[in-house]
Amino acid sequence: MPFYHTLGQVPRKRHIVFRRPDGGLYSEQLMGNEGFTGPASLLYHVHPPTTVLAVKRLRELQWVKDPDQALRHRHFRTRQLTKGGSPTLDRIPLLFNNDIAMLWVEPDKKDEHFYRNAQADEVVYLAEGAGTLESQFGFLPVKPGDYVVLPRGIMHRWRFTSPAKMLVFESRGYVRTPSRYRTEYGQIVEGAPYSERDFRRPAELVTIDEKGEFPIIVKQYNGLTEMVLDHHPCDVVGWDGYFYPWAFNIHDFEPIVGRIHQPPPVHQTFQGDGFVICSFCPRPYDFDPEAVPAPYAHSNVDSDEVLFYASSEFMSRKGIEYGSITHHPDGLPHGPHPGRTEASIGAKRTNELAVMMDSFRPLHVCKDVLVAEDKEYYRSWVENGPAFNPPTS
Ligand SMILES: [Fe+2]
Repeated sequence: MPFYHTLGQVPRKRHIVFRRPDGGLYSEQLMGNEGFTGPASLLYHVHPPTTVLAVKRLRELQWVKDPDQALRHRHFRTRQLTKGGSPTLDRIPLLFNNDIAMLWVEPDKKDEHFYRNAQADEVVYLAEGAGTLESQFGFLPVKPGDYVVLPRGIMHRWRFTSPAKMLVFESRGYVRTPSRYRTEYGQIVEGAPYSERDFRRPAELVTIDEKGEFPIIVKQYNGLTEMVLDHHPCDVVGWDGYFYPWAFNIHDFEPIVGRIHQPPPVHQTFQGDGFVICSFCPRPYDFDPEAVPAPYAHSNVDSDEVLFYASSEFMSRKGIEYGSITHHPDGLPHGPHPGRTEASIGAKRTNELAVMMDSFRPLHVCKDVLVAEDKEYYRSWVENGPAFNPPTS
């Protein structure tokens, strides 16, 4: 999305003769969304991308709702979730609605297959893990703190060189930068918390011309299908366009601060259909001597709020830890924990690091995450009450 990019060889114009060294034609493919009217790229393959040898439905992906629908604030500790598995096939669903889902995986296996999510755009926040995202668009180095944006349909494979913890967002709509951060011509405006220079694109195009049997696992119809291609899918000699995987590191987000408290939209990082993703980063606090840096209690304005704590420090919460996820649903006010408001007055800066997703429609909690639930969290605002959760550090 962010802007036009090209790698490798492309012909002088679109849709004209473009020959391989052996005299055959390269196979041109348009990849994008919204029919022929959305963002797209043109790729040039050594072999047609359509030569499927076999297909097989592997399994259905059931996202089962927590049957207890009592409205309350929730807290889950991701360290208590099952570890291991594939980075693409063993994701644990946490929360979802028809617009957005959040999943968690700490993979310990290396995928041999390539993966394609055909029903959602993905934003993968790498709490930990470095390595490379391989795709037909080239190799994209990734590192801890990256948001890796994978528009739907992009075939890819994760290659980690250090253990990864992946918070995966699956979005029904196209994931993009907020429109208010862009000029009417598409450039990121001065005053936005990042610029195009912060977006990393595939840097190295690797063309593999190899025949054989290459499995590709596609997510569609809420399940996984394996299709076997008769050649290596990374056979692209060149591409150009606006549709490709890209990365933005949370530490490249430039926080916007004020004399008094700034509302959460200043932390917005991505826009989707029916949700936003925000980044809370280390920053100086509000600098008026009478400012109260901790947020005021708020009733979610038509949104559910989910916070992933990417460090153990967060100015308004006690009892949370690195890897915690809190869910504050629409219909209930929430605010700082006891003592946090007073403690924030006069503080100069915060080292908090958190990823927030606000959905505009209610989220369902998945049964799979209940094993990691801190069931008393909803009572943790009662000072010195039975459920008060002391800070862990
Ligand atoms: Fe909030």
